[in-house]
Amino acid sequence: MDYIYCANYEKTSQAAARMVAREVLKNPKAVLGLPTGSTPIGMYRYLVHLFEDGLVSFADVKSFNLDEYVGLNANHPQSYAYFMYDNFFSKIDVLPGAYDLPRGIASDINVECKRYDEKMQKMGGIDLQILGIGLNGHIGFNEPSHDMQVRTHCVDLTHDTIQANARFFNSIDEVPRHAVTMGIGNIMKSRKIILLVSGENKRDILQKTMYGAVSPEVPASILQFHSDVTVITDIKL
Ligand code: F6R
Repeated sequence: MDYIYCANYEKTSQAAARMVAREVLKNPKAVLGLPTGSTPIGMYRYLVHLFEDGLVSFADVKSFNLDEYVGLNANHPQSYAYFMYDNFFSKIDVLPGAYDLPRGIASDINVECKRYDEKMQKMGGIDLQILGIGLNGHIGFNEPSHDMQVRTHCVDLTHDTIQANARFFNSIDEVPRHAVTMGIGNIMKSRKIILLVSGENKRDILQKTMYGAVSPEVPASILQFHSDVTVITDIKL
């Protein structure tokens, strides 16, 4: 795994945005895999700046998000669809229909998971996947477990994740208990991966991810088996 240390959150966000922009300039038809959460907000902000300065265009890009809560529609302010529109899609030239997220309100979640996987495959897979990491080592919403799921699937969120995400809702009772997420197999098939990690509270999990045993109990540790992962972080290991 390559490791890029940046002095602070802003520099981490800039470095990630520049790397994404570089990939899009190299391949304007790139298929991106995108994360939500607090970590990538700065990266999206810098990507919007690069777009506004005429340095990059997303007109031919396609994207798939990692995950979505079950039960929230795209107009719900805490849905990931809303997050992406608000922070990124509404501010760049990506075409409507060129980006997709799992539909958390699909009447049959299993059919939705299949649709998502088939569409990703039809688009030729993901060229560049950007990931954040949960304090428990989850990537997407692949939570610590005894095994790893390959494809897009529905998960029960762990108590830790529900608690961590409660900060975005009025109360912990409003946090959805289930989510749809790409599987570890979908993520590992990406041609290139950026893992974005910020904040001292993630030091321990970053250490385990990069140097610990590869185990489904630390889902991000599987990234050690990928040949093109760049960790961009403000944590000096
Ligand atoms: C969100 C996602 C999650 C987050 C992780 C970290 O799409 O895939 O794995 O990346 O929960 O979230 P933050 O950045 O809020 O600490």
